[in-house]
Amino acid sequence: MNKKIALTGIKPTGLPHIGNYFGMYKPALELAKDYDTRYFIADYHGLNSIKDPKIIKELTYEVAATWLAMGLNPEKSILYKQSAVCGTFELTILLMAFTSKGLMNRAHAYKAKVAENTEASRDPDDGVNMGLFTYPALMAADILQFDSDVIPVGQDQKQHLEMTIDIAQIINHNYGKELLKIPAALIRESTGSVIGLDGRKMSKSYNNTIPLFLPEKKLRKLLMKIVTNSQTVDEPKDPDKCNIFALYKLFADIQQQAEMRKKYLAGGMGWGNAKQELFEIMNETITPIRSKYENLIKNKDYIDEVLREGAEKAKEIVSRKLSFLREELGLQ
Ligand code: ADP
Ligand code: TRP
Repeated sequence: MNKKIALTGIKPTGLPHIGNYFGMYKPALELAKDYDTRYFIADYHGLNSIKDPKIIKELTYEVAATWLAMGLNPEKSILYKQSAVCGTFELTILLMAFTSKGLMNRAHAYKAKVAENTEASRDPDDGVNMGLFTYPALMAADILQFDSDVIPVGQDQKQHLEMTIDIAQIINHNYGKELLKIPAALIRESTGSVIGLDGRKMSKSYNNTIPLFLPEKKLRKLLMKIVTNSQTVDEPKDPDKCNIFALYKLFADIQQQAEMRKKYLAGGMGWGNAKQELFEIMNETITPIRSKYENLIKNKDYIDEVLREGAEKAKEIVSRKLSFLREELGLQ
């Protein structure tokens, strides 16, 4: 029997962080056991904001090296760069004919930009390019081109997935058959929205991230910046209202969590100590991945080869889907 298909991607717009790790990379790679998996680097999406060729290229290598360091096996899964599969672009154009402008108007990222402009008394569309405006249509093509079943993502991508489903349903309805597979988002309750240093959702756009592969000393220094309240060392503390504990829980097993919880409630543990404990457990988890990453990032030829082979495999699948669709839509 054919396996189900899982797919996800990430933009090369900054250093991969702890939120990406728990919200997306880890759950996505766990699916490789039971699913046919396709992972990609969304460089077309990245181009909407990154216009420096050196930077986007370097970030693309960094994201690819992150996938591989975390255990992506290129023999089993497809890893490719979005821009290397030109069929995705062709499918985007097909989808555009069924994508209402009103749907795009409602996309969170676009709306946030308009709100920011309005707040600052600028033209509402100031700095909005068509790449940003039509972002959900390209994302729908990424997903629908493979007949994907499951899309592991963080909570912030929920709306994009709903839009993909909307677009696919409009097309299926118009032609009276399932031309496009309806995908499902896979968002984990416990890790779908990891908090950042300031307690808000961790995001490159909030500048509150904990990058995954910081050298040890820098990681420790950064963790010391986690925002806490002004309770003294002696006071008992509430773990469930603490940014440090929220992060600690992600790395700790049940027993470690219970022990840490006790220390909070007993009093006598200062924030500095709690941060040190977080550093230790985080560093222990990350160290083996970090050292793989450091080796991989030095080996760009290997990454190029993996991406080239991945793109070949992806192109073949996508071109079959496109031929089918062109025929069904009356373009061929
Ligand atoms: P950012 O918001 O930092 O720009 P991306 O948009 O590149 O992150 O996100 C890549 C993937 O990681 C997406 O699936 C996204 O939902 C997930 N993700 C990003 N931030 C978090 C977070 N704080 N918690 C859980 N998942 C996250
Ligand atoms: N929009 C996703 C993000 O910002 C990246 C992405 C692009 C994606 N295309 C996708 C994720 C398709 C899952 C499936 O993180």
